[in-house]
Amino acid sequence: MSRKTIQVTEQEMAEQREAARRVREIEDRPKSYFIVTYGCQMNAHDSEILAGMMDEMGMTPAAAREEAELILFNTCCIRDNAERKALGNMTWLKELKRQNPRLVLCACGCMIQQPRMAKVILRQYPFFDIAFGTHNLHKFPSILERALETRRQVISIEETDGCIAEGLPCSSESKITSYLSIMYGCNNFCSYCIVPYVRGRERSRSEDDILREAERLLEGGTQEIMLLGQNVNSYGNDRDDGATFPGLIRRLDALGVPRLRFMTSHPKDLSEELIEAMASSKHCAHHFHLPVQSGSDAILKAMNRIYDRETYLRRVESLRKAMPHIALTTDIIVGFPGETDADFEDTLSLVERVRYDSAYTFVYSPREGTRAAAMPNPVPQEVSSERIARLIETQERISAEVLAGLVGSEQRVLVEEVSKRDARQVAGKCTRNITINFDGDESLIGSFARVRVTAAGHNTLKAELVSAEDKEAPEWP
Ligand code: 5AD
Ligand code: SF4
Repeated sequence: MSRKTIQVTEQEMAEQREAARRVREIEDRPKSYFIVTYGCQMNAHDSEILAGMMDEMGMTPAAAREEAELILFNTCCIRDNAERKALGNMTWLKELKRQNPRLVLCACGCMIQQPRMAKVILRQYPFFDIAFGTHNLHKFPSILERALETRRQVISIEETDGCIAEGLPCSSESKITSYLSIMYGCNNFCSYCIVPYVRGRERSRSEDDILREAERLLEGGTQEIMLLGQNVNSYGNDRDDGATFPGLIRRLDALGVPRLRFMTSHPKDLSEELIEAMASSKHCAHHFHLPVQSGSDAILKAMNRIYDRETYLRRVESLRKAMPHIALTTDIIVGFPGETDADFEDTLSLVERVRYDSAYTFVYSPREGTRAAAMPNPVPQEVSSERIARLIETQERISAEVLAGLVGSEQRVLVEEVSKRDARQVAGKCTRNITINFDGDESLIGSFARVRVTAAGHNTLKAELVSAEDKEAPEWP
């Protein structure tokens, strides 16, 4: 793949900045905005970029949806319920629009990128002013300009493999923890998953662009960077400049990012080199999110996951050998077509064996256009419900045991906020990505602290302060 075809040119980006400037000069443009975000971290980060664009267009964030002059829905379609939720909430806006015809309603994101959605918006949501897909996010200023000038519905959905747009604004640059996208799209085509269809092919940003963005984030006060991509450990595979994920980790570690996380990884690409890069790094968190999806070889094969149970367990072993205290988390789907009781028992036994800190668990949801949607032997809803309940019960027991096992240990916490439940306490995450609350005041926010865990709660830990911690201190003591 030629890099030229996927990188948006500087001239096109300049045109968008020009469009943003013109929107700022439109007298009756919306002055405030509210974004409703569904789905994963990539969407959350896209919303930060969209907010940055709207700031540039002279708008300010509204405190509530009802107070905004522009409402933007950034949608998700990974499962049917995500889609139904977004469509349901979009329907509610009809009344708001009737009361205030100047209100600008926009929808974007993965759900909109699906081929059938243009028609749905046109027919069922004529009160929406704008709909644009994931591939056109960088064109939001010119799309909005067109809608404001014509006062007609603008639908902009491009069917491409996707692109990389550098230099977009972002509204979050002074946050304690920040997202940083290193790649977009996915080539894996897991048979149940719609992501490759709505996010396009894998395309990796250049190491230099990523390093520059990381430097900017650090200058803005960021203490933790979460590298984002659908499949971060295949970072660089689409480039011809030798860039690799372990190499990128080493460069970011050397830059001195106080804490480095990444998400999500595919087990098939988890190399010994990456494990070594993490283990020898100073700043990588002791946490690995490694979606397994199923513990059954037959189901993994039908899911097109490329690895089998034994390979997965071997990689878990390698991770733990190199980093004995590493926390593992995962994603699991139950009720995939053809999943038998024995297949499900294999999933349960894998969960018992790995002992994850936590797991995101899902009932399989057929997605139009994916291979699994056409597979025979659907699992009845009541069977899936029973299986997911058993899975959750098993994982909750293990999570509680893992948390209880941490009582008495010392942890390095990045303090992020005053605790939600008790204003005399602050809360932050330890390297395992578990929230820890401890007595302390606001002045600690944004700094690292060493704490001793005193009790385990439900998904969180309580602790007492031991000492302030240097941000240069290693994640691995
Ligand atoms: N049904 C249920 N869960 C799904 N996921 C992806 N597609 C589907 C689907 N069709 C889950 C996977 C993935 C996570 C982000 O969402 O577990 O890792
Ligand atoms: Fe979907 Fe599989 Fe790609 Fe993850 S790796 S986004 S589950 S196709």
